[in-house]
Formats: sequence, C-alpha cells, structure tokens
Amino acid sequence: MELLKIKGGKPLQGQIKASGAKNAMTKLLVASLLSDKKCTFYNVPNIGDVEITVNLCREIGSEIKWDKKAKTLEIATPDLKTSYVPQRYSGSNRIPILMIGALLGRTDEDIIVPTIGGDLIGSRPVDLHIHALHKLGARIEYREMKKEGAYFAQAHQGLKGAIITLNYPSVGATENTILAAVRAKGTTLIKNAAIEPEIIDLILFLQKLGANITVDVDRTICIQQAHKFHEVEHTVMADRNEVASYAMAAISTKGRVFIEGAEHLNMIAFLNKLREMGGGFQIKQNGIEFFYEETLRGGVHLETDVHPGFMTDWQQPFVVLMTQAHGCCVIHETVYENRFGYTHMLKEMGADIELFTQCLGGKQCRFASSDHHHSLVVKGPTQLKAKDFSIPDLRAGFAYVMAALLVADTSTISNVDYLDRGYEDLVGKLTHLGADITRVSAPKKASDKGKAALQNLLQTPAETPTVV
Ligand code: EPU
Repeated sequence: MELLKIKGGKPLQGQIKASGAKNAMTKLLVASLLSDKKCTFYNVPNIGDVEITVNLCREIGSEIKWDKKAKTLEIATPDLKTSYVPQRYSGSNRIPILMIGALLGRTDEDIIVPTIGGDLIGSRPVDLHIHALHKLGARIEYREMKKEGAYFAQAHQGLKGAIITLNYPSVGATENTILAAVRAKGTTLIKNAAIEPEIIDLILFLQKLGANITVDVDRTICIQQAHKFHEVEHTVMADRNEVASYAMAAISTKGRVFIEGAEHLNMIAFLNKLREMGGGFQIKQNGIEFFYEETLRGGVHLETDVHPGFMTDWQQPFVVLMTQAHGCCVIHETVYENRFGYTHMLKEMGADIELFTQCLGGKQCRFASSDHHHSLVVKGPTQLKAKDFSIPDLRAGFAYVMAALLVADTSTISNVDYLDRGYEDLVGKLTHLGADITRVSAPKKASDKGKAALQNLLQTPAETPTVV
C-alpha cells in the first residue's frame, strides 16, 4: 500500500495530454464481446478499471494484446470460454453487470455475475438494468450464494426488441440495454435514455461493429438488430473528468495548464460554470488552456445533472475551487443521494461548508423528501491547512489532491488505489506541471485487507471460477 505526499503552494504550469476516458474504455471492452471479430482501440488509458475489465474479458475467453506504451489494445473473443464472472470480481467496479447485456445474445448458457461495486456514493441499485433486460425477454434472478449474492441471467427463448422506458436516465442501464438490444430480434426503443458523451462513444463503436442506432433529441435511442459484425478500429474519447480535474487544479493554484486533446463539445456545462466564477480558459485548435485570470467570484449556484447538465463527477473538485472564491456558492447534487461524504475532511482543513437535506436551488430532485445531505453551501475564500487524508472514492480523491496542492505544508493521502482506478499517471502528470508530489510506501494495516483484494484482481491470472 502506498501514500501520496504533497507539498503544495505552487501554481501548476505547463502542458499535459488528456488520457482516454475510463467510463468509455471499460464499456467498449465489454461491447467488443458482442462479436467474434477483432477490435483495435487507440488512446487506451493505463488505469486500474481498464486493467480489471481486461482481466474480466480474459476470464470470458477474450484474447487481448495491450501495448501500454503505445496506448493500443487489440481484443478478439472468437469463443466464450465461460459465462460465469468469478465471485472475486464482486464489488470490484460497475462493469460486471454490463456483461449480462453483452453476453445474453451470445450464449444459451446461464450468465452469472457477482454483485457489483463502485464508489461509496449512494445505494447504486441496478433495478433499471433488470427491468430493461426483462422487457427484452431475459430472465434475471438474484440468488444468495455461499458468502454473497450473484445475478443469474438467461434468454433461452432469445431476446426480442421492445419499447423500454427508464424512469431515470441511468448511464449503466442505458448501456446494458443497448448492448442486449444489438442482438435482440427487431427494433428496441429506449425512452428517457442517458445520452452522456461516453454513451455516444459506445454507439459510434457499435455502428462500426455492425449495429444501426439512432439517438433522438427527446432522449429516445433506437437500436436495430445487427445481422453482421465487422472488425473495428476505434479511438477512445478524451476523459472529460480528467480534463476538468486538471483544469480546476490549474485555476485554483493560480497556474496555467494546456490540456492537449481536451474536447470542447463535452465540456460545455463545465466551462459555463467556470466562466461564472471567473476561471480563465481558451479553446485552442488541439485542446483547451485553463488559467487563473482574476479573483474567483462566489454567487454561483450549480446543480449536478445527467448530460447535458453539469456532471456529478465534476462536483467534488469544484467544491475545492469554490473554497477559493470570494463569497457564497451553492451546490445541489441531484444524481447521487450521498456524494458529500468527503466534505468533512475539507472542513477539517478549514473550509467553510454547510450541508443540507433540502434541495437548494431551482428544482426539487428525487431526494427532496429523503434525509440525505445533498445540497451544500461553501463560503470562501479560505486558506486551507495541511491534512492527512484517506480517500473514500475516486473523484473525492482528486478533490483531496487538489486541496493539498493549495497548501504550502505537506499533506499525505492514503487509499491511492482509488486514484489509480481512474487517473492515468497522476503523479507523473502533476510532477510535469511542477507539483511537489511523491508516492511512498505506507506501513501495512489490518484495514488494508480490502485494498489487497482489489490488488489481487489486478494481478490474478485467469482460472476456472467456482460457482456454488
Ligand atoms: N440508479 C438507479 N437504478 C439503476 C441504476 C441507477 O436508481 O438501476 C440511480 C443510481 O443510484 C444513481 C443514478 O441512478 O443515483 C445514476 O446512476 P447511473 O446508472 O447513471 O450511473 P452509473 O452507470 O452507475 C456512471 C459512471 C459514474 C458517473 C455516473 C453518472 C461508470 C463506470 N460510472 O455510473 O462515474 O458518476 O455514470 O454520470 O461509467 C466515476 O467515474 O467516478 C463515476 C462514479
């Protein structure tokens, strides 16, 4: 287990390249399982969640060549070795559940996937996935196993296109439904679908693979059954979470960073809010430059939302940015009910943040009548103090890194594996921008057991799964 040591107080300066998007690449790998054809990906990020997904695909039978230096990855799955996702992937990330959508049309065998994981940011149910796959003709049951449960799925009678209305535009449920629909007989309509850029990237890939998919302005996605599959070459979109993270770190440290490959189209909601606060940016031909231009202003209200709204994953580092603004800012988190847990550490650093269960802002969200803290008020500016942090989830992790970069004293950050899951070469990129950041070994503790299990997933070679 390792720690990050950060001695902040210096502006970030220079140029970095945006990595490929975690939330696109992991889904593209799963989507490649729909066919037996070779798929070649470019701009593949070398991060933990891709590594886990690669291992997962190998378990299923994929042959994979990943040149990490060249950022290219070739995958082909001519035959399925098994349709059991081993229990040790239980809780690893959000990807195993998508295996159901990808494999239902490819095998008559039962597909078994363990309970899924992800960050601790809310209850994160999968009811919408199950509802949609049922409508396509799949049978899915949750069964208790020896230690924990698993989903058993099959479509022995074949999948058949259907009209599916999601009661919330869930990213994962939309992806799972699209994957299953590509091999379902006839036409499938998903109403109230998520239309995040990562989903559009998935659709671009599937079109190359052989699917016919349309996306309407009213959030309806129409998928026709694919009859023939092709080899695919696909460049993974830039990671808009990574871009926004470094943008906020640059501005809050009063620096200037050019991010090559940052895509303007996917950053509109973020750039609007940045400009409201006085954050500087310039769209260039091959990327976006972010810089400190003037005193950051408070008086900003933002609501996280599904695309094209302000992403929930931008929220945590934005709160740190708000601690540096003059005045009050308000955030209403409408995507997850429990995504403010990380703020108590920022408060210990001196940040003036108050949490509310009410919907502070223009609309009543799904959590209006619950007692979850899902709105907050930040008052700034605050000179933060150094702190030793333990990261609770990926995006909170970057918020802590960013907060540490604002303090001249040394902070230490543990649970670095969360950052490894989603930020490629974090230490290398920040060092290149002039940050004083090092990675050091930490003494082993009993609480490191869970992390060791995750590490195991990254390294364990394929083996026959034991399903009871
Ligand atoms: N939801 C349900 N039922 C479902 C599915 C979702 O109620 O069946 C609820 C969730 O509980 C949550 C909301 O819908 O409150 C949004 O969940 P969604 O399904 O849209 O998210 P996801 O697919 O689980 C992906 C990203 C997240 C990102 C969200 C929202 C991946 C692997 N994860 O999660 O990314 O925050 O979409 O954009 O793509 C991250 O990268 O750090 C991260 C958490």
